[in-house]
Amino acid sequence: PSALRVALLGCGVVGTQVARLLSDQSDDLAARVGARLELVGIAVRDAAAPRDPSIDRALLTDDAETLVDGADIVIEVMGGIEPARTLLLRAIAGGASVVTANKALLAEDGPTLYHAADEAGVDVYYEAAVAGAIPIVRPVRESLAGDTIQRVLGIVNGTTNYVLDQMATHGLALDDAVRQAQELGFAEADPTADVEGYDAAAKAAILASLAFHTRVTIDDVSREGITSVTAEDVAWARQTGHVIKLLAICEASEAGVSARVHPALVPEQHPLAGVRGAFNAVFVEAEAAGELMFYGRGAGGAPTASAVLGDVVSVARHRVLGGKGPAESHYAQLPIAPASSA
Ligand code: HSE
Repeated sequence: PSALRVALLGCGVVGTQVARLLSDQSDDLAARVGARLELVGIAVRDAAAPRDPSIDRALLTDDAETLVDGADIVIEVMGGIEPARTLLLRAIAGGASVVTANKALLAEDGPTLYHAADEAGVDVYYEAAVAGAIPIVRPVRESLAGDTIQRVLGIVNGTTNYVLDQMATHGLALDDAVRQAQELGFAEADPTADVEGYDAAAKAAILASLAFHTRVTIDDVSREGITSVTAEDVAWARQTGHVIKLLAICEASEAGVSARVHPALVPEQHPLAGVRGAFNAVFVEAEAAGELMFYGRGAGGAPTASAVLGDVVSVARHRVLGGKGPAESHYAQLPIAPASSA
């Protein structure tokens, strides 16, 4: 094809940046893909609502179904389970490739999408669903697919890292720091998902599924957020040479696969202690590769849009050249340790 029709679902902090990059870089992207990526529409709940001036308002529509039906590639950055799931299944059934940043949907019901995609012979790519700009999904899904991963551990929520960092360095109260994170575009639409650990738990479920070739859902993840972390805790940690971080830990042992999210005391000398602001860092331990560290911007419009666009290029290349990327619809169900949430 000389052009691929791209539909964008959602025009929030990330969607706005995706639309901007598609337009600003259209010549470069066409050269890399071998076909033009033509943004044919942006589905939003309210087409009349105010938008960033960079958005071409003629592209806005509240008819997501019709938009999806005419697309070769559907980018979903609207978030939430429904209507995202129905729209993506419709896109896949119609033969479109899908790029999504929707960690909640993938952590709850990813296999439904993966099965549908394998049946239709199309790609579902989701680098932006975990740790924003950091390439972590593709390394775990593809680069390390020949190794045996034992553990994935790290900071995967930028908002809570920002909040804990502000509490530690400026003595800010939790609520004030959360408000700042919202203003900076790091937080989820409902920041409860960040501070209660749901966002990190969804990412842990996605990483554990890929790392251990199984199906871990968000319900399998033990979860404790940062709402009970006080200024006194932060100060006490500091006095004893520690920093409090919200960690996601995914492990495979003889007892089964386990994933958990909770605040942890990290010694000041540990590399995770130096992860500031909305940055994320993930360690992967694999049998042959040893320890790998991934670090970068884990939240925010442009960093997350970078990951989305990388996926768009990958799935577009598959459509131009033929072929399809990896598939996890055939994953076995390994025993998963029961989750407990505080
Ligand atoms: N709210 C998320 C975070 C955005 O703070 O990390 C990226 O998924």
